[in-house]
Amino acid sequence: MNIAVVGGGTRCKRLIDVIDRHAFEEIDPRVVAVADTKEDAPGLARAKAKGLFVTRDYNDFFNRDDIDLIIELTGNMDIYNDILDKKKKHVRAISDATAQLFYEIARISTLQKKTDQELQETRARYKAIINELIQEDVMVIAYDYRIMDINDSLLNKLGLRRRDVIGQYCYEITHRQDLPCSGKNHPCPLIQTMNTKKPFQTTHTHLDKDNKKIYYSISTYPMLEEGDVIGAIEISRDITQDINMQKAMMQQEKLASIGRLSAGVAHEINNPLTTILTTAMLIQEDLDPEDPNFEELGTITSETLRCRKIVTSLLDFARQSNPVKKENDINKIIKECLVLTRKQAAFKDLTLTSELADNIPPLYIDKGQIEQAIINLTLNAIEATDAGGSLSICTTYSRYRQVVDVVVSDTGSGIRENDLGKIFDPFFTTKESGNGLGLAITHGIIEQHNATIDVFSKPGRGTTFTIKFPLSSGKNDAD
Ligand SMILES: Nc1ncnc2c1ncn2[C@@H]1O[C@H](COP(=O)(O)OP(=O)(O)OP(=O)(O)O)[C@@H](O)[C@H]1O
Ligand SMILES: [Mg+2]
Repeated sequence: MNIAVVGGGTRCKRLIDVIDRHAFEEIDPRVVAVADTKEDAPGLARAKAKGLFVTRDYNDFFNRDDIDLIIELTGNMDIYNDILDKKKKHVRAISDATAQLFYEIARISTLQKKTDQELQETRARYKAIINELIQEDVMVIAYDYRIMDINDSLLNKLGLRRRDVIGQYCYEITHRQDLPCSGKNHPCPLIQTMNTKKPFQTTHTHLDKDNKKIYYSISTYPMLEEGDVIGAIEISRDITQDINMQKAMMQQEKLASIGRLSAGVAHEINNPLTTILTTAMLIQEDLDPEDPNFEELGTITSETLRCRKIVTSLLDFARQSNPVKKENDINKIIKECLVLTRKQAAFKDLTLTSELADNIPPLYIDKGQIEQAIINLTLNAIEATDAGGSLSICTTYSRYRQVVDVVVSDTGSGIRENDLGKIFDPFFTTKESGNGLGLAITHGIIEQHNATIDVFSKPGRGTTFTIKFPLSSGKNDAD
């Protein structure tokens, strides 16, 4: 790798000497050119003595074909931006701040070296850190919030060019704000690091274009020069998937414990309920329909039947743990659900349509349970939609992702943002006569099939539930 250095000071001289002295394993770095306006600059003099190309004007670098990397060591942002503008596409450029970071890493590793083995370990460790730095989003930020350097990963995510970013304020570029971050959801880690001279870690919460929460873990490390903080290295990582997985596990745990509790309670209640029901019916049979108590006994019977229905739902909910999986045609299951729910939809004057892909492979699922899950979703959709509205059930298969999607959507009332996180909780209902068990049962069934269920909803604009069955769904389970 041929390197050209802009700024022929002592750091340039040290760089030439270090490269001369060490054997590098994978890359073969070589300083081939140095630019400095001062002819007596020590790095420039060392380069001249070695017979390297030297110049007063770094613009001469851009005509050469033998340069792979330009290192800017003057610390002047305007020069670095000028290099970025003029350099050939394949030539890489490193700013003074980045060079400083790698110099620090190298310095620490030399300080720590004692034995050859220790040196190997230290090198491996720093190599890992650098690799990590490359995969994560990294910025070098000065004490005045200006971005001094940024890595390609973050640039790609922002969709910006390096030269649009260098020298700009970090909060303008990453948050499109006029002021530094603050508040509970966006504490500024840079301020903490500047004040304490210590690393700091925090989490930022943002909303994506669909209003879904995304979480960033942000860490800052101080850059010190003679004891003063001159800026910080900021490393950020999208941890949304980790957080969602944690939430899903908590939900599963919660459902499992409620399931156990419900099974016990429902079982205990079922027997006395049967006694109440049969006794009320027997007494009623003996009474004259004109008797004032006849109607009251009817109320006892119907209310007890309602309790029995709740208990049956509870038992369904608690019993979800043993699906009997076989190869099944999901389209066929959906068609059967449509037959069962079409009447209710027609009764409310709703259009019920389906679009079932014909390339769907068989799924390894419990027919009865999946039928129950889809009916629960369809009934909810019917209940949430006013006359004239429509609902649809679609299936699609992605050969590439090896996933079958079942999508149930409606044009109904939608779900309030505040309620979205609660709808899968047992007993959460917004309906006068609802039990709040339909979605809890559905969620449990879907989990038992190693599938996932997601909801997308906007108040007034309808709701879409998407179930994703991975093709391997359940096949490898010891069930
Ligand atoms: N398609 C939908 N559109 C709007 N809101 C919905 C939809 N599906 C579910 N919800 C909301 O989620 C809540 C919970 O649904 P869930 O099916 O668990 O219980 P429920 O329908 O209220 O009672 P039940 O136990 O009889 O099913 C509902 O009360 C409703 O507020
Ligand atoms: Mg329901």
